[in-house]
Amino acid sequence: MQRTEDGQIVKLTDYRPTDFVLRGVDMTLRLFEGHADVVTILAFERREGAAADAPLCLDGDELILESIAVDGEILPPSRYEATPDALVVSELPESGGFEVRLETRIAPEENTKLMGLFRSNGIWCTQCEAEGFRRITYFPDRPDVLAPYKVRIEAEKAVAPVLLSNGNPVEAGELADGRHYAVWDDPFKKPSYLFAVVAGDLDALHDSFVTMSGRTVALGVYTEKGRAPQASYAMDALKRSMVWDERRFGREYDLDVFNVVAIADFNMGAMENKGLNVFNHKYVLLDQDIATDTDYAGVETVIAHEYFHNWTGNRITCRDWFQLCLKEGLTVYRDQEFSADEREPTVQRIASVRRLKAHQFPEDQGPLQHPVRPGEYREINNFYTATVYDKGAEVVRMIATLLGEADFRKGMDLYFERHDGDAATIEDFLACFEEAGGLDLSQFALWYAQAGTPTLTVSESWDPKERRHTVTLRQSLTQGAAGTGTEPMVLPVRFGLVGGNGEDRRAEGDVSGEARLKDDVIVLTGEEATITFTGLSDRPYLSVLRDFSAPVMLEHQQSEAERLALGRLDPNLFNRWRALDDLIAEALTSAARRPLGDEEPALKSAIVDALLASADDDELAPAFRAQALTLPGESDVARQLRENVDPDRVHEVVDAARVAIGAKGLALFERLSTGRPSAEPFSPDAESAGRRALANTALAYRCAATGDPAAAVAQYRAASNMTDRLGALAILAHRFAGEAACESALDDFYRRYENDDLVLDKWFALQATAPTYEAVETVERLANHPRFTMRNPNRVRTVFGSFAAGNQVAFHRPDGAGYRWVAEKLAALDRINPQIAARIATTFRAWRSFEPGRRAKLEETLRQLSEIKGLSKDLQDIVDRSRK
Ligand code: PHE
Ligand code: ZN
Repeated sequence: MQRTEDGQIVKLTDYRPTDFVLRGVDMTLRLFEGHADVVTILAFERREGAAADAPLCLDGDELILESIAVDGEILPPSRYEATPDALVVSELPESGGFEVRLETRIAPEENTKLMGLFRSNGIWCTQCEAEGFRRITYFPDRPDVLAPYKVRIEAEKAVAPVLLSNGNPVEAGELADGRHYAVWDDPFKKPSYLFAVVAGDLDALHDSFVTMSGRTVALGVYTEKGRAPQASYAMDALKRSMVWDERRFGREYDLDVFNVVAIADFNMGAMENKGLNVFNHKYVLLDQDIATDTDYAGVETVIAHEYFHNWTGNRITCRDWFQLCLKEGLTVYRDQEFSADEREPTVQRIASVRRLKAHQFPEDQGPLQHPVRPGEYREINNFYTATVYDKGAEVVRMIATLLGEADFRKGMDLYFERHDGDAATIEDFLACFEEAGGLDLSQFALWYAQAGTPTLTVSESWDPKERRHTVTLRQSLTQGAAGTGTEPMVLPVRFGLVGGNGEDRRAEGDVSGEARLKDDVIVLTGEEATITFTGLSDRPYLSVLRDFSAPVMLEHQQSEAERLALGRLDPNLFNRWRALDDLIAEALTSAARRPLGDEEPALKSAIVDALLASADDDELAPAFRAQALTLPGESDVARQLRENVDPDRVHEVVDAARVAIGAKGLALFERLSTGRPSAEPFSPDAESAGRRALANTALAYRCAATGDPAAAVAQYRAASNMTDRLGALAILAHRFAGEAACESALDDFYRRYENDDLVLDKWFALQATAPTYEAVETVERLANHPRFTMRNPNRVRTVFGSFAAGNQVAFHRPDGAGYRWVAEKLAALDRINPQIAARIATTFRAWRSFEPGRRAKLEETLRQLSEIKGLSKDLQDIVDRSRK
């Protein structure tokens, strides 16, 4: 049994299989107002080789055992020991099979943690990953225990006409007293974390899909009453995902039905339960009036991600939670590839890299650092991190780069074939690519074991006499909080030698040092290597780490002139974007080192001109131009400063740059932000979204330059979709906070969307992120607003989470009021929903990087939090590790 009691640490090296093999699960859930009765029948067999007297140890969490029988006989108390979090049964048959029947009674209405069986707006819903199943029944609740499930649900028909579970529906019927039942059968063996039940009065959108082998699958997207029409884009994204996985990876769906349910109260984005995905409704429900283009892209990605889990996660699952990246890193990689194919690949890559840098890099460089495959944990909920997901995806991407497309596909095919039905490990996964690619990945495996972001240093020199270009690559990794080693890793570095007309030049490369050269990829394996390129007529521009081919911090000693040239010429569009983005980030960072009030402009005019030129280049996709115009965020600049950060100075620098760019490009921004026919019918496709993104970015610059809200007010009023309306409102709420134009637009927005919680979240979030000291008082007002509730995770995230992570100015107010406010709220939230409290608390982890005043206040806040009696294991774990 893997138990994670308070303070107890679970270690990867302690893994051993269970003493009993589970052959099948048969459950009956009887749902009533106020409680649910659960009857679970488990068919076990003592494992070959297990001790004959080993007891059966089952996990529980806040459970009460009503009864237990083995092979039909009620057990006397001497045979078992039951506590809320464990059930130990002894004197079981020394060999062969037996059946355990358990009865538990649970209270879904009181389940505010939203783990296990809970009720959301009257709907019964489960969430079992990672360890929620043990809140429903006693069970060997670990991912390597796989079994087929048969589930019967009973409820009052008027309250819950819809009864759903995993697998295929096999039976339904009426019962006495206005009750009814349904039976679901899931023939695919699965771990308990993929179990799901949903029951309630739901609407649905129905469709069907014919798979590549000609089977028809019934598709359903279930929503709260009246909202089914808003599920049509999700349904469309689902069908596109199904087609894509067949074409790209040869993966076909396997059951007769596939259902998605949208739920208002949900801790995460969504959950891949077999045949019954459960979603936070923000990733299902939308139409042009209530959702932005970003929301559309989010729905598409999350629908695809959960669907793709059917093969990478469900058919092949994880042996233990240390292997979480086996399903998550791989599935994120797959959803990124899907979005790249469905949308614009460069723009998608830029977005993924921005995300990695904004969330994963700081995690990997601070006290919460851990390897992609952690070696130990106290609370597994705290390991659903950017490192496991996003760096995990980067690691898979590097495997694909090392093998090339054809061999990567061969390796994936082998993985699916060899491990279908298994609870697998990272070693199993890597072995498939070693075989398919005929290469040794033992050094590569360090990516899973060593925490931290490596630094890749690149220098170059041109020998005009010999017409030789020498490129030296060096890697280094510093020991961080995780203390996991600093050996050189395998870094695939995609590159190009760019000529003056923007063409990629061919050149012979000669390697010295530990590296190899394969096509356009240098694979650095040692600390240092040098590649000498010959056969060049004149000096090329080195475009290195194309497409961000390895998750490293790049230090490329390259002049401003060369970077400006690459920003104009690089045929690799990702690097064309990065050339300018790096220049800007470095300039902002060095300006942020100067004292508050220093007015010397951060950006030289050559940089601003280059930026405006790419914004004005009609040859480039509008979405790309919008990305180019998006300055590094304040937290990016803070991360690059590394120490002694003054968030007020960072804000001042970034904002001044925005004003300066706006002023210099005013004519362009006026042109880009006006004159769009607002009567143009709405389409959520990537191209149309790109045009709206460019126009809204331009509008923000324009208002920054003029200091006049009029253009934003006009767009707010004329808007015919949420993207344009919210784009305008964001400008008003952030740049003109407190002014009449802002207040009246916010009031109008509230009145328009009062009845839609998803839209109200945007209203809450915009105010919580206004970059003014007064926002501390604003969030306090928002937390007392009648529509605020700690019971809804989305609402909590939009007020506490957006404030703590997205408002550098107010959260870090020099008097410490922002810190105190968040800490106080988290302490209260912790008693309701510890998972969400722990997640928001991770913002405190950066405390060491701030100037002494804020640093002391942050440290003190963390100390006070850590001393609160009765803190949850989730929050205690984050607070304790952050203080290190
Ligand atoms: N497995 C889910 C996903 O990434 C995330 C999740 C984790 C949801 C834990 C709920 C609980 O798709
Ligand atoms: Zn996932």
